Amino acid sequence: MSTKKRHEDFQALSNASTTYDDKSLASQHKRGKLTARERIDALMDPGTFNELDAFVKHRTSGFGMENHRPPGDAVVTGWGSVNGRTTFVYAEDFTRFGGSVGEATAQKICKVYDLAMASGAPIIGLKDSGGARIQEGVLSLDGYGQIFERNVRASGVIPQISVIMGPCAGGAVYSPALTDFVYQVEGTSHLFITGPDVIKAVTGEDVSMEDLGGSATHSTRSGVTHFVAADEAGALEEVRYLLSFLPANNMSKPPAFEFGDEQSGGALDTLIPDSAHQPYDMTEAIRAIVDAAEFYEVHRNYATNIVVGFGRIAGRSVGLVGNQPAHFAGTLDIDAAEKGARFVRFCDAFNIPLVTFVDVPGFLPGVEQEHGGIIRRGAKLLYAYAEATVPKITVITRKAYGGAYVVMNSRGVRADLVFAWPTAEIAVIGAAGAVNIIHRRSIAEAADPDAERKRLTDDYVERFSNPYVAAEHGLVDEVILPSDTRDRLIRGLAMLESKRETLPAKKHSNMPL
Ligand code: HXC
Repeated sequence: MSTKKRHEDFQALSNASTTYDDKSLASQHKRGKLTARERIDALMDPGTFNELDAFVKHRTSGFGMENHRPPGDAVVTGWGSVNGRTTFVYAEDFTRFGGSVGEATAQKICKVYDLAMASGAPIIGLKDSGGARIQEGVLSLDGYGQIFERNVRASGVIPQISVIMGPCAGGAVYSPALTDFVYQVEGTSHLFITGPDVIKAVTGEDVSMEDLGGSATHSTRSGVTHFVAADEAGALEEVRYLLSFLPANNMSKPPAFEFGDEQSGGALDTLIPDSAHQPYDMTEAIRAIVDAAEFYEVHRNYATNIVVGFGRIAGRSVGLVGNQPAHFAGTLDIDAAEKGARFVRFCDAFNIPLVTFVDVPGFLPGVEQEHGGIIRRGAKLLYAYAEATVPKITVITRKAYGGAYVVMNSRGVRADLVFAWPTAEIAVIGAAGAVNIIHRRSIAEAADPDAERKRLTDDYVERFSNPYVAAEHGLVDEVILPSDTRDRLIRGLAMLESKRETLPAKKHSNMPL
């Protein structure tokens, strides 16, 4: 055969693998979805995508499968660059067997994972799949097992991001669940272990797919989903933005950006209300200290009593955590502790310093919380902070009470620097509660118990509801005006840039899961 003919055959094969027929294209677009290849084009810097395994075919027979063996099978894999940095991707192709994962598809995904690990670069999974390929039976299940193993092996080594852009059902959901961040597209993406039909058959309950596993459910109630976008293009744009805060792998640092010192921080001096009972929005404090007031909030609508997300200070990524007095008075509950813990551990794994804003009156009281396991689940946040070895700076803005004070990156759990605003109140409990306990008898015996209670409460506030007792003991390093916070954080982070700390050698820790 002539060389020319061979080249022509190759072109024809390539085209068969990389182009869609009109029917597939129309059917995907009719569902309100882009194709796998359109998604990759939107994610990657133009012209940088390198495809792998475009000729791989499934080897299944039966069910008529032997007559339909499209090159590339049901996933598009490869690498390219995002914001100029190497990034790996796999995009499930719903136009081929509903994006279902069979032996060949799984092998392609595992190969691109292994390359991402070898080169130490992030991997993005664009998910749109009917799950385990029914015709391939146990080989399909084993394929999933191999993918899950790669997810776990890569955890804490390279950033892993899942974007749910269609169905993701049954055991297949565990791949995104094992990755660091999950995006969902509003309206077209659904994640669930058992679908509405199974639920109806087993429990008799009627539930819609949207209610069961749509973006609103997972971003507000289950906490599975970290980010929701109105459409696919928006989701992919956000993934690019998220990557800008992250290092390529656990051995490197996040990219440094140019910054101008445009933030004065002046508004912070009036942020804290005079009354301790009045809420304010902690994201205002965060926006006032990050470069260009840019704060990319993670889990924005889940466990809103704690705020977590990424920003930059002096051009460098930081992970920001803050109690949110505007919701449940900023108390810690189970969901907030788990949300915070997961974020802190991500930052610690990927060399992103932590800046923590504290205004916490305590743990949320209640039978529901106790029965739900606030003891073991609340311990996760404490564990995460205590275990983290990245630079850890705390800013106490107002209340820092009891166990919750300790949890929120206090000196005791090895904060590197603790700043407190003059409005900080660091105590075992609030003044009213404290006086009722330690002066119960003298209040009861007083001629005017209310007046005595008020006198003792005022005295307690005067003596203990401030940052100076903690500062006297070195538990607060510096009391600062709110408007000086950004400046202190810039200096502190610069000093800690060279921080080195290692944990005792161990196989792995045993955090309270
Ligand atoms: C093989 C599949 C498939 C699957 C879909 N298709 N899912 N083929 N294995 N799992 C095929 C369909 O036959 C169809 O082929 C094409 O994909 C598009 O599917 P439609 O049903 O037409 O699309 P839509 O109406 O949008 O519905 C999508 C869907 C539905 C909700 C995903 O197809 C569905 O319920 N599929 C089965 C889901 C499922 O039970 N999967 C196994 C789950 S268990 P044609 O040729 O007609 O276009 C699982 C466990 C993983 O995944 C375990 C890991 C440990």
